[in-house]
Amino acid sequence: MSIRNEIERRRTFAIISHPDAGKTTLTEKLLLFGGAIHVAGAVKSNKIKKTAASDWMEIEKQRGISVATSVMGFEYAGYKINILDTPGHQDFAEDTYRTLTAVDSVIIVVDAAKGVETQTRKLMNVCRMRKTPVMLFVNKMDREGRDAFDLMDEVEAELGIKLCPLTWPIGMGASFKGVYNLYDRQLELFTPNKQSISESVAIHDIRSAELDALVGEKNTRKLREDMELVEGVYPSFERETYLAGELAPVFFGSALNNFGVKELLNCFVQIAPSPRPVQAQERKVDPYEEAFTGFVFKIHANMDPNHRSCIAFVKVCSGHFERNVNYKHIRHGKLMRFSSPTAFMAQKKETLDEAFAGDIVGLPDTGNFKIGDTLTAGEELHFKGLPSFSPEMFKYIENADPMKSKQMEKGIAQLMDEGVAQIFVNQYNNRKIIGTVGQLQFEVIQYRLLHEYGAQCRWEPISLYKACWIESDSPAELENFKKRKAQYMAKDKEGRDVFLADSGYVLQMAQNDFENIRFHFTSEF
Ligand code: G4P
Repeated sequence: MSIRNEIERRRTFAIISHPDAGKTTLTEKLLLFGGAIHVAGAVKSNKIKKTAASDWMEIEKQRGISVATSVMGFEYAGYKINILDTPGHQDFAEDTYRTLTAVDSVIIVVDAAKGVETQTRKLMNVCRMRKTPVMLFVNKMDREGRDAFDLMDEVEAELGIKLCPLTWPIGMGASFKGVYNLYDRQLELFTPNKQSISESVAIHDIRSAELDALVGEKNTRKLREDMELVEGVYPSFERETYLAGELAPVFFGSALNNFGVKELLNCFVQIAPSPRPVQAQERKVDPYEEAFTGFVFKIHANMDPNHRSCIAFVKVCSGHFERNVNYKHIRHGKLMRFSSPTAFMAQKKETLDEAFAGDIVGLPDTGNFKIGDTLTAGEELHFKGLPSFSPEMFKYIENADPMKSKQMEKGIAQLMDEGVAQIFVNQYNNRKIIGTVGQLQFEVIQYRLLHEYGAQCRWEPISLYKACWIESDSPAELENFKKRKAQYMAKDKEGRDVFLADSGYVLQMAQNDFENIRFHFTSEF
């Protein structure tokens, strides 16, 4: 098969949802269809259960599981599918944001009864920033949920995207009969059975009398009315609008009952994008370019505390990656050769000889890579990652064991390179501040510093509202600001100026007093 064909048949995507909406269950059913696994229950949820006796012990367990399921690749109907897993816990939302930089499309799972929840809204914002095509799967139709039209209204308003149903439910909960597939013009009948696949009947015209016999007179009448409304209210499906990230096709089903999943998958492989061009600082890189390029979007440290060995996850952006070929590590300016790159095929890891744009390659590493690093066949390129967002929680990190200060320094530096959290060094007192999205990240850092580096840290409170990256066209004003706010000035990991505002009021005053300074809540502007 030509390289072009190989790239064209790749579908690399992530499934995102609020915890408990059914992401794990859906992933598992997709893998079952792909023949990548053979029994239900094989995919472990990477959710951190609330009942866990100790959060960090649970995290350690999860890390073992999550490396195996970070990327699940399988073949389906001539397509190569790569599902990128995202952490189930919202405290690790940053990991999810970064994973979204490596996918070409996204499937959002929504619980039919709960509708859109906070985390989904935040993740959708990231998709919007990147114009990532999204598809929706409304799950748990076997339970009493909301009226489909109400739910669609809410999703449109909350996620800020136009919807276009490609399947439509007939009843719900105990009286759920199935869905009408508008894309293929057929009826999918629901039988509540967790393993078997639903029965499909081609119904090219919903006025057909056959419908009455299949789902009953009342349901048929309702379906016909619904269809009229659907056609009147929602735009018809256009692939271009979907690919531009402006229209989200919607599917209804029940992942647990394996219902509606096949329709989703069949339609997905047909309409979802193959690898898309990726923007580098210098230029846009087309996936079909011959020369290999890629970037690191995730680093997974090893469970073995005696060795600092990790796996760097590289998204291949263009061309063809080969084992044992020299590639340029742009930040280090040196050539590197990888003798045992890994492919992720569902739950197995295996050494790969080659990979194509769209694929994810795991590179065993001993600390050479940082999140965002670019690898190329030689060209000087820098892929743009996702900017860092201002963290939501802040704490001073202090060394609790002065004999281990070197280990502590090294540990912090490497964990930050891995993207575990963000660090800001206060320029006034030189104290280090760790910024996170949630409490669990602090626990992870403390635990990993101790177990992987033998260093003990202590947290001290600091009351901060936001970290703002600042810039100005007037160097004099910038200097003046930095002098006036010296106590609140910090540098981020890359040495950029950050203003640490301790309250919304202080920030607003600073914005009023310094009109020529721009305050940003993300690290790239
Ligand atoms: P997540 O990864 O998004 O967090 O969700 P997950 O798939 O773990 O599903 C959350 C819960 O919802 C699970 O139940 C799962 O069995 C259930 N579920 C998933 N899809 C459906 C569906 O279509 N219908 C119904 N009725 N339930 C569904 P649990 O009790 O939390 O876990 P488990 O003990 O069943 O594994």
